[in-house]
Amino acid sequence: MAAVLPSASSSIVGVLEKELGAAAIVGPGHERLDDYGRDESPLPEFFPPECAVLVESTEQAAAVLRICAERKVPVTPRGAGSGMCGGALPIAGGVVLSTERMQRIKEIDPADLVAVVEPGVVTGVLQAAVEEQGLFYPPDPASLEFCSIGGNAATNAGGPRAFKYGVTREYVLGLEVALMGGEILRCGRRTAKGVTGYDLVAGFVGTEGTFGVITELVLKLLPRPPAAATVLGVFADVAAAGSAITMLLRGGLRPRVLELADKHSIDHIRAKSRYRFPENAGAIVLIEVDGEPESMTMMMEQIGMRCDELGALDVLAATEPAERAAVWQARRLISPALKEGYRIKVNEDICVPRGKIVEMLARIDRVSAETGIATAVFGHAGDGNLHCNFLSNEDPEDPAVRKKMWAAAEQVFIHTVALGGTLSGEHGVGLTKRDYMHLEMSEQVLEWQRRWKLMWDPQNLLNPGKKIPAARRCSE
Ligand code: MLT
Ligand code: ZN
Repeated sequence: MAAVLPSASSSIVGVLEKELGAAAIVGPGHERLDDYGRDESPLPEFFPPECAVLVESTEQAAAVLRICAERKVPVTPRGAGSGMCGGALPIAGGVVLSTERMQRIKEIDPADLVAVVEPGVVTGVLQAAVEEQGLFYPPDPASLEFCSIGGNAATNAGGPRAFKYGVTREYVLGLEVALMGGEILRCGRRTAKGVTGYDLVAGFVGTEGTFGVITELVLKLLPRPPAAATVLGVFADVAAAGSAITMLLRGGLRPRVLELADKHSIDHIRAKSRYRFPENAGAIVLIEVDGEPESMTMMMEQIGMRCDELGALDVLAATEPAERAAVWQARRLISPALKEGYRIKVNEDICVPRGKIVEMLARIDRVSAETGIATAVFGHAGDGNLHCNFLSNEDPEDPAVRKKMWAAAEQVFIHTVALGGTLSGEHGVGLTKRDYMHLEMSEQVLEWQRRWKLMWDPQNLLNPGKKIPAARRCSE
């Protein structure tokens, strides 16, 4: 007689508890369960899972994926829950598989210039650990004090230093991944170069937990730059700052950071910032250089002169560690402070070709004027990556208000694509951008992506409903 499978979700909590032990399960009635139904995205809803499983090893992660595949229960992988697009939200219910307890730095090897880590390691913790040994892990998402390396790899996170050093993908050499069904796959390498086979590692990075669950990473490290210095160019308005960035990009200077913050962003953090921004700042260009200590003064002078030529009202240098730390505390505060200060913050991270930065800034202004919705724009402008935030204190639960906010975001998406840009430079698609993907990608490209997803997850149980939209019916 054929075995009858239990009716999936009714028994999944008990089965997982039996397999992994009660200490691994945040189940029904637990005060923390609701936390696993939220992330940092601008969605007012929350999506409670049946349970969250806090795995401590690859084998445990694989066991969860085996059990859930057998019972056809959806699984949503989760790192630190700091994602901004709903990628970690269990929208289909089922199980959240959290890697938050997998926090071991297994190895830091100065000879090979690699670190081997578990996915739950907090990015800032890894950075401090490698820096103690004279090494450097460049990717620096603004949430580095609480986001985790597994989530960074899942979203291919960027950050200010991506301008010189590139994004997370460029630092992931090897991966261990638990697949739906329970198979454990090790791919990649720990060598500086390597071209054997297809690049599965690059294929997993940025898939937002839809292909597999990352359980270990081999990361590339660099020697730590011996010195760094920060310069702030103060401009009259965001258009002047944008033009200055465009001109700086054409010059021979190679800073590690080239960031922008508009007046709204700066004014919003003044009260909380340790760094005192000048009162006349209509926009700030934040530039950071690194290299040999003796080259710092020369580079800062060059940048200062260039900013003067490009119309800066003022140029301020931050060289002392405490002062630089204050600048960065202020920069990283922008996003959380806007979230705290407004009832609705629809934050986008569009990316346009570098030659289109000024035009994109003008178009965002236009959308704001046309819709009457306030914006704050900041971010990694040197990469063309602008965090355009639509802000409101209206009722976030009101469908009409939400529709209006997302319609404004859609206008920005349309302008972005018209300028040759992309909907997301670093935050990912998750849930919030999924239904706008057709603005950027043809149905053919989307269809190949759907096929790719099904190769790893034929039952469509792993983080279903994320990253790419379902195929459109002919009538749509
Ligand atoms: C940042 O650069 O501050 C982050 O990506 C956060 C955000 O865009 O809101
Ligand atoms: Zn960012």
